[in-house]
Amino acid sequence: MSNQSQQISNSLVPEYIRSLQTYQAGKPIDELAREKGLTKISKLASNENPLGPSPFAIREMTNGLWDLHMYPDMHAYRLKTSLSKMYDLKLENIILGNGSEGIMAYIARAFLQPGLEVLTSENTFIGFYILAQSVGASVKQVSLTSDYRFDVKKMAEAITEKTKVIYIANPNNPTGTYITKDEFDYLMKYVPEHVLVILDEAYFEFAKQFDDYPDSMDYRYDNVITLRTFSKAYGLSGIRVGYGFGHQDLISNLTKVKLPFEPNLIAQLGAVGALKDTPHLQRTLENNMIQYSRCVDYLEKNDFVPIKSVTNFITIKTGSTEASDFLFDSLLNKGVIIRPLKVNRMPEFIRISLGTPEEMDHFFEAMDLVLPEYNKKFGRVK
Ligand SMILES: Cc1ncc(COP(=O)(O)O)c(C=O)c1O
Repeated sequence: MSNQSQQISNSLVPEYIRSLQTYQAGKPIDELAREKGLTKISKLASNENPLGPSPFAIREMTNGLWDLHMYPDMHAYRLKTSLSKMYDLKLENIILGNGSEGIMAYIARAFLQPGLEVLTSENTFIGFYILAQSVGASVKQVSLTSDYRFDVKKMAEAITEKTKVIYIANPNNPTGTYITKDEFDYLMKYVPEHVLVILDEAYFEFAKQFDDYPDSMDYRYDNVITLRTFSKAYGLSGIRVGYGFGHQDLISNLTKVKLPFEPNLIAQLGAVGALKDTPHLQRTLENNMIQYSRCVDYLEKNDFVPIKSVTNFITIKTGSTEASDFLFDSLLNKGVIIRPLKVNRMPEFIRISLGTPEEMDHFFEAMDLVLPEYNKKFGRVK
């Protein structure tokens, strides 16, 4: 770019947009296979459902292909009706979007502007930070507790006049931990009515079995919005469907800034199909439970201390950025993709998504090959 066009661009683009970083997606599996000459790749990096989408979802989407010349139902009647029956809610309490991140974008558009603040934690999902910054709002982060959980006490203390949105990922990504019912009650005592609380429950299906996990459906706060997704336990990351539950007035205002035809026709159908397939969800949760204990056993046997997770991923401390990079690169060379956590400001940790039994075997075998050098290099004596 010439100096002159650089200047034009600087005056054209607001500073808060110029200072954002472009999202860096992971390498596509095919590209990695080609580059490294690998035939087997296990992607344990994005907390997807390793069992794939439900056949019910595929059938609905396949049938829907014949209607692609038409716009989607902008009210998404079938999908909202399925969700309203499942959670005993009115249609007016539900909003849908292109993934739960799509709904976060509506929230940023409707609630945030320069001068306002989002309060959240360090070491959490960064999607909402970026959306908040993209509309000029600032982000205030408090640290996690020593056991890697949102610190509700610190958050309550950090609320100011400027706070407009409080973002809580529950369970949290990338730590896999959650705030309890008591902690949620505690925080809500300090949240003023004009502050919106986002409870991002992307991993709800995995966590709901825990007695002290606060299922947000059991609460009726006017200033809380629950976000959930079809991307994780329902195995539909690729079609981008998320949903939000909240007070009717909140939802109707968010709907004003929503693009009318999101989610698209195929996405709506896939989600309707997925909700009907309870056995697929059950198989997903069972596989997750089994692979969770296998993975924890393996890691503990090899002297790692996994953070206790209630999700479909496990995060471990390597102790240094170099150790994390070494594990990431060495596993990549063996066809196993895990997630380094630099963008979450946890460079001395790595995250492993739980896969199929075969994918986990691949991970364990690759680790067996990598660990002798890792232990030597990083002074871990076995
Ligand atoms: C905590 C959390 N929230 C939201 C998302 C995004 O979900 P979606 O695919 O519904 O946009 C993710 C994805 O990794 C996540 O971990």
